[in-house]
Amino acid sequence: MAMAGDRRRRLLVLVPCPYQGHLNPMLQLGAALQLTSSFSVTVAHTEFHFPNQSNHPQFDFLPTADGLSDADKSSRDFTSLLSKLNVNCKISFQESLTRLREQHKEEVTCIIYDALVYFAEEVARELKIPCVIFRTCSAANTSIYNEYPRLREEGFIPLQDSKALELVPRVHPLRFKDLPVYKFEGYEKLLQLLERSNQIGSSVAFLLNTIECLEQSPLMKLRGEYPVPFFTIGPLHKIAPPLSSSSLIEEDQSCITWLNKQAKNSTLYVSLGSVASIDEKELVEMAWGLANCEQPFLWVVRPGLVHGSDAINLLPDGFAEIVGERGRIIKWAPQQLVLAHESVGAFWSHCGWNSSLESISEGVPMICTPCFGDQRVNARYLSHVWKVGLLLEDMERGEIERAIKKLMTSEEGEIVRQRMTDLKHEVMHSIKEGGSSYNFVHELVKYINSL
Ligand code: UDX
Repeated sequence: MAMAGDRRRRLLVLVPCPYQGHLNPMLQLGAALQLTSSFSVTVAHTEFHFPNQSNHPQFDFLPTADGLSDADKSSRDFTSLLSKLNVNCKISFQESLTRLREQHKEEVTCIIYDALVYFAEEVARELKIPCVIFRTCSAANTSIYNEYPRLREEGFIPLQDSKALELVPRVHPLRFKDLPVYKFEGYEKLLQLLERSNQIGSSVAFLLNTIECLEQSPLMKLRGEYPVPFFTIGPLHKIAPPLSSSSLIEEDQSCITWLNKQAKNSTLYVSLGSVASIDEKELVEMAWGLANCEQPFLWVVRPGLVHGSDAINLLPDGFAEIVGERGRIIKWAPQQLVLAHESVGAFWSHCGWNSSLESISEGVPMICTPCFGDQRVNARYLSHVWKVGLLLEDMERGEIERAIKKLMTSEEGEIVRQRMTDLKHEVMHSIKEGGSSYNFVHELVKYINSL
């Protein structure tokens, strides 16, 4: 317990899952907590995807040996990679934490860990350090993993194609095809990992990068399922002071100069996030859809977007000439700046949770093309519940062209844009003084200080 009059800075250890979509919200959380109270923050990170420390002088970094081979690191088998991390990192994390406590000659106040790297909770439990679980996805997605055991008992799993469009019992409004783990080889192993990561163990509180007004019903369900306080503290990228880049790929800032030349709301921003990959045929269909849509576009074609190839070399002949100055292709964008730019009028996205929150926070309506996992859940909420995006499931040039024109030039698109503007105002209200996320961040700080 903190002693009365104890003026020492209290030490927090953050343990992110080493992927871009998980690292960003964890660093934002660290910065948001530092803004509100004088915590010292140490980020314990695997060697794999180790971030550029010099961009984050406000944090200390603690490298954690992960024992991954080069083959593990380049594999697309995330289940196996995460399972290995959860085994390999445990001892190394425990040892470095013990050294850290000796060096600082003080206790760690709290470990906040990404639910996917649950080895941190096991270490916290053994060392008797309080810990807090942080799920970086939506509440709706989090709550679904608790349903799978019952769906199994009821015979819905293995999932059947014939039921794809039916509503899943108890998780309205998701259809079976919207479930994060639906059907692919090895899905049972992934499910086991995700179900495990939903177990809070010794965690004393549950953090979610979401907002009360967005997810009332899944939040109510979760609060009934876990006997610990919940803190909904999103959108973290708007609560934290602007961070220097935590991108694992260098951001191409020159696109902002290009955006400056485009008309207000004219440009489509296209990105499928940091992990999703498509095949060559889909890339070519995307290219022709963009070429034919007649709108300016900024397209992130990151290394790995088409697995095993440099996707830029796979763009169809004649594409660059037809598009000319109307289109700009880059490897990685300063996404938050791009979405906040007044010339960006829509976002064609894979609907990762961070991208969804970033788009909502800027009031940019979306075209939703989920690729895997929680993206399907997010896409269902964006298109069907909040109705701030259009679903585009078929990567076919004609469908793509129609979706873009509908969102960016039709009356129906204007209604979607208006709804997104309204949602933005609601969400941004939550981070103002007296708003739900504002209050939860302050309560969280008090809670951590009481540990
Ligand atoms: C992954 C999963 O795909 C996602 O569904 C899950 O919620 C988190 O992990 P990712 O593909 O990385 O996420 O997508 P997303 O959650 O949207 O996160 C991507 C992050 O990278 C965002 O913060 C975005 O701003 C950033 N980004 C993306 C860039 O900075 N530049 C880019 O060019 C693209």
